[in-house]
Amino acid sequence: MKLKIGILTSFDNTYKKYIGACRDLNVDYEVVDILAPDWAQNVKKSDCRGFLARPPSDFQERKAFFDERLYCINKVLNYPIYPSWEELYIYENKRMVAHWLEIHGFPHPKTHIFVRKQDALKHLKQCAYPVVFKASTGSAAKLVNIVKNYSQARKIIGKIFGLLHPVMASGYNGYSFRGIPIPLPGANQRHYAIVQEFYKIKWEWRVIKIGDSFFGRKKLLRGNFASGSHRVGWERPPDEVLFLVNEICEKGNFLSMGVDVFETHDARFLVNELQSITGIRSGVKMLADDKPGRLRLIDDKFVFEEGEFNQHDGYLARARHFLDILGSSCADLDNPLDGAQEK
Ligand SMILES: Nc1ncnc2c1ncn2[C@@H]1O[C@H](COP(=O)(O)OP(=O)(O)O)[C@@H](O)[C@H]1O
Ligand SMILES: [Mg+2]
Repeated sequence: MKLKIGILTSFDNTYKKYIGACRDLNVDYEVVDILAPDWAQNVKKSDCRGFLARPPSDFQERKAFFDERLYCINKVLNYPIYPSWEELYIYENKRMVAHWLEIHGFPHPKTHIFVRKQDALKHLKQCAYPVVFKASTGSAAKLVNIVKNYSQARKIIGKIFGLLHPVMASGYNGYSFRGIPIPLPGANQRHYAIVQEFYKIKWEWRVIKIGDSFFGRKKLLRGNFASGSHRVGWERPPDEVLFLVNEICEKGNFLSMGVDVFETHDARFLVNELQSITGIRSGVKMLADDKPGRLRLIDDKFVFEEGEFNQHDGYLARARHFLDILGSSCADLDNPLDGAQEK
């Protein structure tokens, strides 16, 4: 049977980049609506060997149900998905990223995650300021707030956990316009707080690894924030950062991973984010001497190869990597559901 790939829908049009990629790769595909109420039927009646996914990055609730549906597809129905369930579970989940980095001992900003109000207040009463509050899901620094003192922190904690009881939690997002808070309750975080030590950073490196290709660049600061600054430094990342990214991807068996690394003023590299699918618009991910290309790790050295490797904003590289994996692991698999039924 000819290999056919499923493309799962996303809230926005991003999944269409997978369509463009499959067309360019001349591979049979079917779009399967994972957002529809009858999504499970759609998956089961398709004759796809595996599914390409692009989870939402806007609201935590949307990400949570996407995780659940991917769990059903990959862990219950036993279909391969790309990227892997494990790397998509930590995607847009800053709590999980902090746990993962801590457990594996990778250098990262000191992060405290509180799920009880009294623990948060106890810490915030005695910690050094400023601290960084961030929501678990969010991008472009929209839900990242630098908090200068305890009185500010206590107000935020009241909103997140509720003044007298959790049912009173109005939630918090920190959106404001010229200092005036804007109530956007749909973006509010509730019932947990992520509090990080504040680091003086020079910039943030972003390295993306898809298959065996590495792409890297610098995100420069605008004010306090590199994320969302739209200021790019087209420079090859230091080898130390590239090897760190390689080690992280090996540890997590990550297939497609963007790693953001702070370079601090005191010359440390700290892993700030792991994002399986980064929200890059431009097709170019790496330039060296003004030439587009990629890096590959060959004989313990990162070697630059000139060329265009980012068609469809990297979705072609992801689709191709998935095809390689399916080609080698699913050659004899007629129906992935067979495995599920045996269990
Ligand atoms: N612990 C920190 N210390 C100093 N600056 C930080 C810290 N955490 C985040 N920032 C700044 O805020 C930006 C956004 O934070 P980040 O955690 O990357 O969230 P987002 O998902 O919005 O990109 C970062 O690019 C960095 O400039
Ligand atoms: Mg970021």
